[in-house]
Amino acid sequence: MQELAAGARVAVLTSGGDAPGMNAAVRAVVQVGALLGIETLGVRRGYQGLIDGDFTPLEPRHVDGIHRRGGTLLGTTRCLPFLDPAVRARAAQQLRDQHVQGLIVIGGNGSLAGARAFGSERDHTGNPFRIMGIPASIDNDLGYTTLAIGTDTALNTIVEAIDRISDTASSHGRTFIVEVMGRDCGYLALTAAVATESDGVLLRESQVTPGEAINKVVDIVRHAYAPDRGKHRVIIVKSEGVEIGSSALKSDLDSALSAAGLPVETRVSVLGHMVRGGAPSAFDRLLAGRLGHAAMRAVIRGRTGEMTGWHVLLRPGDPPPVVFDLDPFITFWPLDQVLAETERIKDGTSAVTQWRVRILREVEPILAR
Ligand code: F6P
Repeated sequence: MQELAAGARVAVLTSGGDAPGMNAAVRAVVQVGALLGIETLGVRRGYQGLIDGDFTPLEPRHVDGIHRRGGTLLGTTRCLPFLDPAVRARAAQQLRDQHVQGLIVIGGNGSLAGARAFGSERDHTGNPFRIMGIPASIDNDLGYTTLAIGTDTALNTIVEAIDRISDTASSHGRTFIVEVMGRDCGYLALTAAVATESDGVLLRESQVTPGEAINKVVDIVRHAYAPDRGKHRVIIVKSEGVEIGSSALKSDLDSALSAAGLPVETRVSVLGHMVRGGAPSAFDRLLAGRLGHAAMRAVIRGRTGEMTGWHVLLRPGDPPPVVFDLDPFITFWPLDQVLAETERIKDGTSAVTQWRVRILREVEPILAR
């Protein structure tokens, strides 16, 4: 496809669960567009706003300082109706009415699936829309990017929360189960446990049964509070995707600890949505800026149906990646390939997931020393 001419229009939206750094990505898209003479149209409320034609012009003056702010100022939705081709056709008409030729989608798995589905729609000139995805999800469950926008900030927030919990846990000699978000992906739980010197991690990916999880925690507690070890607290980080809920886990754990003759007080702290908010870290601002820059340049140059990835771990047999000429850490990946690998990350067959589970096995005995 030809390079977009000055004055052409590109739309940008944020979709799915908000992630800190989304605003910084929007800002980068707008700034790069303005530099190259391209108008950016913001879409409010994700795909729902696209269907409703809820647009707002975005110029550099509209995005001043937004990179410092958490959430997404454009708003977001999880828009199931977008799965319907007739609904997508309505959204395409909204873009044609505005003479928009490209669409940049900032979001996670479901959002990128929406972007792929939209790839068959045509702009007002009769050419396919130029579609580019930017990975943003605190879960870090996306293929072909080592990190998604938002993950680093969420991890820092979790680390701060666990450090605080650790203070109160040590004061009382208690055992805490700290549940963190991540849906089907235990990346946040695993990395937070290592960064906080927690004593154990429960991940869905390691496929332990609830009974095995309880036995594991009892062993950790027994060792930690033994006189020759003398820890002041035990912290177990549990990923939300683990089959057993945190309250049920606590109740079963209390029974198992009592049966094992370990009179330990337990508490549960579910960090929940708190982890998704807050100002983006410096790393997330930079990552968002780099991915946003690459996405806008790519759309202008005529690339489509892809996601911008950061610092990718290649799978055996992967063709050499298309590297962004202005930033060697950024690569472009077909959305089909990204979504297939994302499925594998979720179902455990990805080399990335298998590596995380292996690392967990290595790390666990070290954490529990
Ligand atoms: O995908 C991001 C995420 O925060 C997950 O970790 C979590 O399972 C989910 O979104 C929560 O979704 P909602 O905000 O719709 O409750």
